[in-house]
Amino acid sequence: MLTGKRILLIISGGIAAYKSLELIRGLKKSGASVRCIVTQGGQQFVTPLSVAALAEEQVFTDLFSLKDESEMGHIRLSREADLVVVAPASANIMAQMAHGLTEDLASTTLLATNRPVMICPAMNPMMWQHDATQDNLKTLQSRGINIIAPADGDMACGEVGTGRMREPEEILTAITAYFQDNRPLAGLSALVTSGPTYEPIDPVRFIGNRSSGKQGHAIAAALKSAGAAVTLVTGPVNLPAPQGVKTISVQTAQEMLKACENALPCDIAICAAAVSDWRVKKAADQKIKKGADKSAPTLEFIENPDILQTIATHKNRPALVVGFAAETENLIENAQAKLTKKSCDWIIANNVGDHDIFGQDQNHVSLITTEKVTDWPPANKEAIARDIVEEIIHHFVNLKMIEAAE
Ligand code: CTP
Repeated sequence: MLTGKRILLIISGGIAAYKSLELIRGLKKSGASVRCIVTQGGQQFVTPLSVAALAEEQVFTDLFSLKDESEMGHIRLSREADLVVVAPASANIMAQMAHGLTEDLASTTLLATNRPVMICPAMNPMMWQHDATQDNLKTLQSRGINIIAPADGDMACGEVGTGRMREPEEILTAITAYFQDNRPLAGLSALVTSGPTYEPIDPVRFIGNRSSGKQGHAIAAALKSAGAAVTLVTGPVNLPAPQGVKTISVQTAQEMLKACENALPCDIAICAAAVSDWRVKKAADQKIKKGADKSAPTLEFIENPDILQTIATHKNRPALVVGFAAETENLIENAQAKLTKKSCDWIIANNVGDHDIFGQDQNHVSLITTEKVTDWPPANKEAIARDIVEEIIHHFVNLKMIEAAE
């Protein structure tokens, strides 16, 4: 099932390290090759010799080992894998990853890698629940790290709670699923904008809108499940970062534009954010007070950059650029005009005139391309996201950038 897959397994310190030996056996049996790094802490629980015997490969332990570095530099080690798995992932290695520390071979490799990473946390329940660990977990999730959440149960330390590393078979199933998922967009990268932008008036007030980010986040998640490497740039929303999606949070349109430009080049861009068209020309440094005469302040606005248009006319323009159009009248005509004006390839148009779609789970859209207009039946935002991704897959098959499914 994993024939030809190269796994780099990092074993950090924790009693659950003994389970990693079983994991190595399972991975090897499934056809994967397994290269291992064992940290100093990990070596307190399993010996490099037993790891090497099971992996049938040299085991790496030291960053400054002349022997290790001459045989395989740590940068090469970090790049020559289809998946990097950290099992067990101690609270310490999670903290090192979250903060970009490079204290040993394992943490340096994790900072240097450009490969997907999966972590299998294992620790005492209090350590797992601690705000520090939970904050680190959120950071890692938002960077697109795959998390195999720990299980509940009796701990080796005698306490009961959440913190047990998943059993080797469960981890093997997750790794197999990771590779077996229907991943037609594997190898392509996508940028998605989502949510509103907040434009400051003064330190406590802003201009925003009621976009929930549900549609944009659902599209990012659907692209991710189809195998794309996804960067989600989101304004302030009340939604978790989708699993495995690199998520960048911004406030203003200008910040959103900068984050998007940093994410180029990529193959697909979908602008689902409700970007504020204007911002206050000069936000006040101090809270604006009521004047003695009770007169209302006058705000001077200037136009925000158009992110969709900037991406669609960029020198690193993605092969497919998709915008949204929320219209209250003349849906198709207005959306077609937007398609031309913003130089994008498709517009997903929704009529917001007769019902309020902001914050709702349902949506009703039409797909507008230069060739055709297709009205889709109303559906929830996840289903619409999957339909959009289906269209994208067809498009890239036609462009011969990916292969059709058998
Ligand atoms: N958009 C953008 N940057 C802006 C404004 C809009 O990227 N500054 C994108 C939105 O993400 C969406 C598309 O442009 O994909 C259309 O947004 P919409 O608000 O419908 O159109 P506007 O350009 O703002 O035009 P109008 O409000 O006049 O209809």
